[in-house]
Amino acid sequence: MAAIKILSTSLNLIASTSYSSSSSCHYRSCPSVFAKFGFAPVWDISVSIPPVSSRRAKRMAHSIARATLGLTQPNKIDPPKISFAAKEIDLVEWKGDILAVGVTEKDVAKDENSKFKNLVLQKLDSHLGGLLSEVSSEEEFAGKSGQSTILRLPGLGSKRVGLIGLGSASATLAYRGLGEAVAVAAKSTQSSNVAITLASSEGLSLESKPATASAIAAGAVLGTFDDNRFKSESKTPVLKSVDIIGLGTGAEIEKKLKYAENVCSGIILGKELVNAPANVVTPGVLAEEAKKIASQYSDVFSAKILDVEQCKELKMGSYLAVGAASANPPHFIHLCYKPPNGEVKTKLALVGKGLTFDSGGYNIKTGAGCMIELMKFDMGGSAAVLGAAKALGQIKPAGVEIHFIVAACENMISGTGMRPGDIVTASNGKTIEVNNTDAEGRLTLADALVYACNQGVEKIVDLATLTGACVVALGPSIAGIFTPSDDLAKEVLAASEISGEKLWRMPMEESYWESMKSGVADMVNTGGRQGGAITAALFLKQFVDEKVQWMHIDMAGPVWSDKKKNATGFGISTLVEWVLKNSL
Ligand code: BES
Ligand code: MN
Ligand code: ZN
Repeated sequence: MAAIKILSTSLNLIASTSYSSSSSCHYRSCPSVFAKFGFAPVWDISVSIPPVSSRRAKRMAHSIARATLGLTQPNKIDPPKISFAAKEIDLVEWKGDILAVGVTEKDVAKDENSKFKNLVLQKLDSHLGGLLSEVSSEEEFAGKSGQSTILRLPGLGSKRVGLIGLGSASATLAYRGLGEAVAVAAKSTQSSNVAITLASSEGLSLESKPATASAIAAGAVLGTFDDNRFKSESKTPVLKSVDIIGLGTGAEIEKKLKYAENVCSGIILGKELVNAPANVVTPGVLAEEAKKIASQYSDVFSAKILDVEQCKELKMGSYLAVGAASANPPHFIHLCYKPPNGEVKTKLALVGKGLTFDSGGYNIKTGAGCMIELMKFDMGGSAAVLGAAKALGQIKPAGVEIHFIVAACENMISGTGMRPGDIVTASNGKTIEVNNTDAEGRLTLADALVYACNQGVEKIVDLATLTGACVVALGPSIAGIFTPSDDLAKEVLAASEISGEKLWRMPMEESYWESMKSGVADMVNTGGRQGGAITAALFLKQFVDEKVQWMHIDMAGPVWSDKKKNATGFGISTLVEWVLKNSL
């Protein structure tokens, strides 16, 4: 029998499963699978069969290339490469594919002759013989968020002119929406060069202009990005350059544009991790991704991955119990960021729930609305943490040491798995009666939080798709935040004002702890149905040092967009902003 090596050169995410070499023989009959997924098998037809141990060694060396369950491997897609330039030029002189103007409801006001009052719109309109005002009236364009008109016109330097409604949402959201809308228009018109400006950029303060430009740029990048890794056919985006006009020029704005690019690369990684199914992103793959970040930015990162044995030594019984049923073993991820000059004023930890799949375990998710088929997103907290790491590896903030911690595992069912009623012991010695195996996230976070506290950090933020109860309370687009610290609440809320991500502080009502008492252990892992997001937060609090400022973010709602059927990248931009607030 021939030994078969499968080499993959174009994987975005590295997958490893425990396929035996015999199963790889099956591939011989269907090489077209490989053509489809863009990587070529290398047939290594050696006459003699190497001894088992060396075969295993080879397999280990090529674990990166091993096929996953279902034979799915993500196609490599490059993140959008768009060059941004801040310019101050006359709009009518600009040459390119789309000239887009962000317009508020106020900007579209017209005088008694149905002409724009706004000077920018007036000037464009006069160059276009009044067409712009006519069309905006005909199409009832009112500058509302989500409204846009794109016209193909002769006679201007630009091939097309667009009016994009900004609405009256928060500034960041409106400007990001503008960038996104232009990116979407560029896609549908095959445009590669666009310019974006605001009808009333004059009205903006000098300080807010760079942030406005950076929100527009972020929108353009994220609007261009489509996660097509798992589609057999996809178009490469054509948008190449974006000129941002009228928001100033110079070092300050260039720096902000670069910053937007860095944060977006983190958001894109986060989205890719969440979008990838659980047969592709296993706990081992998540760990590989973390190591990749560390090696990419090796000047500031070091990576430590603990295997099951090492977690046992640290007595992480609560975490290990959750992963015990899975054929994909747990991997405990710890990335450490140290600033380039080594000087540290503040030590922080970001902890993310990393359930690559949550079946519920023996308390299996059944029934309408349980969303078991979406539980690949149960590692959204860890995606936020790793996405933030990727962004911060490029931004390289001074004065902060940051620990990125993920207790990655998979909640499955098997004879080796934990049963309802089992008592597990966390690494701080506390015992937990598992009255529901589906409340697994908190069991993994318990040991992750104890580990974080042992790093000597002053502040911890954890992010988790922790409870359906939080989605019931706050809906799909708002995350619940829980913290005993008013100071930390203030810091993170201020960061979210800048990022535009919606957070709402929830109470940590101590009297609800009553429902978490066990007759036989220190606590149970689930209270009743009432206040489920709050009792979950109270549970986590049992594993945090009182001296440490700690916040829990329940992002079960905002991790996923039902409308786009895609990950949102939630949390990353807020985490980066928060870290920068703690930087010098
Ligand atoms: N990962 C889920 C929470 C979840 C549910 C996120 C729906 C997004 C959408 C979590 O592990 C879970 O199953 N929580 C249970 C807790 C309950 C058993 C106390 C829940 O919310 O039902
Ligand atoms: Mn669960
Ligand atoms: Zn879960």
